[in-house]
Amino acid sequence: MEGEKKQITLPLLMSVGTAVIGSLQFGYNTGVINAPQKIIENFINQTWSHRYNEPISKTSLTAVWSIAVAIFSVGGIFGSFSVGLFVNRLGRRNSMLMANILAFISAVLMGFSKMAKSWEMLIIGRFVPMYVGEISPTALRGALGTLHQLGIVIGILIAQIFGLEAIMGNDNLWPLLLAFLFIPAVIQCVLLPLCPESPRFLLINKNEENKAKSVLKKLRGTTDVSADMQEMKEESRQMMREKKVTILELFRSPLYRQPLLIAVMLQLSQQLSGINAVFYYSTSIFEKAGVEQPVYATIGAGVVNTAFTVVSLFVVERAGRRSLHLLGLMGMAGSAILMTIALALLDQLKWMSYVSIVAIFAFVAFFEIGPGPIPWFIVAELFSQGPRPSAIAVAGFSNWTANFIVGMGFQYVADACGPYVFVIFTVLLVIFFIFTYFKVPETKGRTFDDITAGFRQTSAMAEKHTPEELNSLGADSQL
Ligand code: GLC
Repeated sequence: MEGEKKQITLPLLMSVGTAVIGSLQFGYNTGVINAPQKIIENFINQTWSHRYNEPISKTSLTAVWSIAVAIFSVGGIFGSFSVGLFVNRLGRRNSMLMANILAFISAVLMGFSKMAKSWEMLIIGRFVPMYVGEISPTALRGALGTLHQLGIVIGILIAQIFGLEAIMGNDNLWPLLLAFLFIPAVIQCVLLPLCPESPRFLLINKNEENKAKSVLKKLRGTTDVSADMQEMKEESRQMMREKKVTILELFRSPLYRQPLLIAVMLQLSQQLSGINAVFYYSTSIFEKAGVEQPVYATIGAGVVNTAFTVVSLFVVERAGRRSLHLLGLMGMAGSAILMTIALALLDQLKWMSYVSIVAIFAFVAFFEIGPGPIPWFIVAELFSQGPRPSAIAVAGFSNWTANFIVGMGFQYVADACGPYVFVIFTVLLVIFFIFTYFKVPETKGRTFDDITAGFRQTSAMAEKHTPEELNSLGADSQL
């Protein structure tokens, strides 16, 4: 039976591969505005002058650019709340198909913003795709947590390479660079109808047992799928027993307080670590650090990012989430200190620009060891079916809000603090390290009951609850 479960079949590979195109789009949108910042700022300035007959002021430019960068995560905020609505009604596959319509709209808006002389179009265009990313990969987020992250980082890397001046990061082609997402969206639209709907959705949400069975047979490459069916029915029974928990109830019940706090703090630790300060702004960070070819250093960061996500893919099940998260946060704090030293001494020692490259590479590497992939899937491990959708919505909201704050605020804070901007991230990283050390339990390889029991002990209120309520708190890891 074990062997059967691990079988990788062509239909399975194709479905996963097609779905991960969604993660790729997410990554691409994160990385794409990094290298061509100057060129697009130029465009904003030109359209501004054209309209108002005067050049744009530094403050307005920072504002417009920061909004264009950060608005992407506002899409994510909306997306994280509407996910449940789509995937449970339309099905996983059809939601992804629908999401691509939005991707087309955004590609068109961004692609034509130059022609239409409209930076507003650029901003709206960047708002849409995150919404897309947020509705699409949900179906596989639990099961393929780290692959989702791998899709994201490869997307970032592709965007960084395409952003080179010689490729598309130049005055003429930048609209194409932004609109390029059209292509993966088309590929996904062509492939999706060939992929089966999720058997879990068919059985649990639609009650279509025969269909679920035949899909499973295809995915597993075997005719005997009774074990899988059994497992899904069990899950379905459990879902019936356990009523859905709304977001409001999630906040009200003392039972969920502990895991909810952990879930939210882990999301915040991912974003407030400052990682997207690097992925949105590294080219200008490197430039300030005296690096001669900042765009190449940015691509280097993308390569390190991808390499360490692969490393994490292999170690996450062995080393455990808690230890990797702690190691990652500590390493990032150390790298942020190194970066501060490099920036502070740059005037005296020119070679500090190399130290800054090392610091940023290490910062990114440590991020992918833990704080990158782990928060994405640990939420599903901390909650059972009943409260899980609401918990994921709240976690998603926290993640994107924090992402927005960093994207929006970084340039202002960097202007105000000069070389000491990374000190802020260092302090936050240390706080998150302390929190993780004292509050986050290890979930690797532990059963649902076991984790539940752990939270039960720490919840002083626990005795006042029924066994059903207690049962709904815990983890039935999908990984
Ligand atoms: C994670 C973060 C995302 C970030 C990426 C960098 O997926 O959620 O915001 O850009 O890692 O690799």
